[in-house]
Amino acid sequence: MSGSKQEEDRKGSNQWREFFWNPRTHELLGRTATSWGLILLFYLFFYLFLAGMFALTMYIMLLTLDDYKPTWQDRLETPGMMIRPKGDQLEISFSVSDTESWDGFVSNLNNFLSPYNDSFQVQTNDNCPPDQYFIQEDSGEVRNNPKRSCQFNRTTLEDCSGLLDRFYGYSRGQPCILIKLNRVIGMLPGKDRQSPYVTCGAKREDSDKIGPVVYFPPNGTFNLMYYPYYGKKAQVNYTQPLVAVKFLNASLNTDINIECKINSNTLEAGSERDKFAGRVSFKLRINEK
Ligand SMILES: *[C@@H]1O[C@H](CO)[C@@H](O)[C@H](O)[C@H]1NC(C)=O
Ligand SMILES: *[C@@H]1O[C@H](CO)[C@@H](O)[C@H](O)[C@H]1NC(C)=O
Ligand SMILES: *[C@@H]1O[C@H](CO)[C@@H](O)[C@H](O)[C@H]1NC(C)=O
Ligand SMILES: *[C@@H]1O[C@H](CO)[C@@H](O)[C@H](O)[C@H]1NC(C)=O
Ligand SMILES: *[C@@H]1O[C@H](CO)[C@@H](O)[C@H](O)[C@H]1NC(C)=O
Repeated sequence: MSGSKQEEDRKGSNQWREFFWNPRTHELLGRTATSWGLILLFYLFFYLFLAGMFALTMYIMLLTLDDYKPTWQDRLETPGMMIRPKGDQLEISFSVSDTESWDGFVSNLNNFLSPYNDSFQVQTNDNCPPDQYFIQEDSGEVRNNPKRSCQFNRTTLEDCSGLLDRFYGYSRGQPCILIKLNRVIGMLPGKDRQSPYVTCGAKREDSDKIGPVVYFPPNGTFNLMYYPYYGKKAQVNYTQPLVAVKFLNASLNTDINIECKINSNTLEAGSERDKFAGRVSFKLRINEK
């Protein structure tokens, strides 16, 4: 019994050895050298072909890419908003009597607004007719680049320009906060000559603390003439429009949670999916000492 089993084992291992290398037929793993050569050759050409296909597709893709505008862009979503000065975690907190607590905000605003100087805007940008889009489309294949941009003069921010009050109200407990709408190429933020505008309010529990606010330019509008935006490369001197909010009599020594949002007849308000669309929240705290 055990002898036949051993024999069977030996036979099996012989079979296996023969499959690996058969000296009679000169087959390695059941194939002759020619057969192996053909297979390797086949795979070589197969992979060369795949690599060629990949290179060709890539080449055609790159040919269709355009330096000036994105080839693929998602459905235009409502963009987010940002505030200036930039504080830690969207918090503007300072003491009126402590110069050092707000001079960082003031120098941040000074730097940010420097390219908005009227003298600079006159040199670089056009004085556009307001309340209408500044359309500069390409005509077919003929590029209309570089495209011009519209002036946004620092003086339109009036009390928040840093020119009439070089401390932007921070030394008097009436701080200015600048708001910008993130750039989206091709976005048309209003129809029927209605520019989108910003409104700011306090979160419910703070509604009695925010006090009156005033907006610059009047009504807090982002004028339609600053749109559509054609991208950094096409519109080299683009100056992003701003809205300034000045808090005239906000409560002192308390946190005030504020939300500013865009109002537009084409952009949808922030959905549940994207809470940051078209709005920005920040904390304001003005201490007396
Ligand atoms: C803009 O104006 C401010 C105040 O007049 C000045 O300090 C700043 O240097 C100017 N910036 C440019 C770029 O002209
Ligand atoms: C910006 O200021 C310049 C110089 O003061 C003025 O000529 C121009 O009309 C102003 N532009 C706008 C859009 O207000
Ligand atoms: C951009 O601004 C420069 C001056 O700073 C001006 O010479 C140039 O013509 C402007 N380009 C466009 C496309 O507006
Ligand atoms: C501000 O809004 C009011 C009411 O909508 C309008 O009558 C007024 O003309 C607007 N002012 C400016 C400067 O757009
Ligand atoms: C500012 O607000 C306080 C209450 O927070 C109020 O008592 C005061 O009269 C207000 N001042 C002005 C000038 O409105």
